[in-house]
Amino acid sequence: MNKKRVYSGIRATGRLHLGNYFGAVKGMLELQDQYDCVFSVVDLHAITTPYDPKTLKQNVRDVVLDYLAAGLDPERCLIEIQSLVPEHTELAYLLSTIYPVSRLEDLPTYKDKKAQYPKYVNMGLLFYPVLMAADIMLYKAELVPVGRDQEPHLEVTREIARKFNDMFPSAGSGQVTFPEPQRFKTPAEYVPSLTGEGKMGKSTEGSYINLTDDLKTIKKRLAAVPTDSGELGGDIPATGGVATLFTLLQILNKEDLYNKYAKDYRDKKIRYSEMKEELSNAIYEELRPLQQKRAEIESSFDLDNMIKKHTEICRQVASQTLKEVKQKMGLT
Ligand code: TYM
Repeated sequence: MNKKRVYSGIRATGRLHLGNYFGAVKGMLELQDQYDCVFSVVDLHAITTPYDPKTLKQNVRDVVLDYLAAGLDPERCLIEIQSLVPEHTELAYLLSTIYPVSRLEDLPTYKDKKAQYPKYVNMGLLFYPVLMAADIMLYKAELVPVGRDQEPHLEVTREIARKFNDMFPSAGSGQVTFPEPQRFKTPAEYVPSLTGEGKMGKSTEGSYINLTDDLKTIKKRLAAVPTDSGELGGDIPATGGVATLFTLLQILNKEDLYNKYAKDYRDKKIRYSEMKEELSNAIYEELRPLQQKRAEIESSFDLDNMIKKHTEICRQVASQTLKEVKQKMGLT
């Protein structure tokens, strides 16, 4: 690993949805040719919210399959399963000793999850951003392809990197230990929810479309998007279900359809059933090649062997960083 490094991860909460794809995976695809990339399935992050231990392994596998189906190439990037590289948790612990608890308690993601699962407020949830910082810092990554929602976590990572560099300067060389990573933005850094409220996400039923959904399922999910009478006219709304439909057309680069329905909207004659039908077809058109590739990989590709090889390489890099950190912190 000699080039600029890139790291990103997706929680092992099941199959990927359009938000993951357009907000993160598209960025990974763009970067895998130019940089040394590690793309992870973060299973340790997935267990901070309620989950079923019986399906966790399958969830991990589903994310790997979706990664490969979307076009991540195991010859051009490393695919990591976070819990197979124990250096993540060790580095996270070390970094936690230089970061204030109060800052973690203030983060919007922590507050949101606390509100969502009031009976599941655990240390891991509070610790989530520190583990995420450790993920990125373990590989000294400079670029992180993630959606807009992850910006506060990246800010934490930069703060931790800065603090570590200040507290434990490198002797002589003048080189800092950790770069301050930047977010790599995709054109669709925020994919709205089908419910018309907030972002598309796994934890809200009715909010997402999976990459593996067939046309019938996509149509069903879009049919439930709330719309209006179609006779409002004026500007296209910025929020709500109608806004989501228009945004999805934009994300899919369906400019003609967008313009047609925008005109219909302004002319107070928009027919949402027709719009949803065309949008469903456009989404399925985008997903069908991925679904075909997924089926091929599932039947012929040796996932376990690939993971074994990639884990070894990841651990070599990770153990070097950890050794350096421990030395600098006076632990050897
Ligand atoms: P997760 O699983 O919640 O999300 C995975 C990725 O998908 C992006 N994403 C979206 N982007 C745009 N619009 C949406 N509606 C949408 N929903 C999800 C997220 O921004 C993210 O890029 N905390 C990370 C996982 C993680 C990580 C890391 C990422 C752990 N360690 C280190 C990068 C580097 C997360 O949000 O996962």
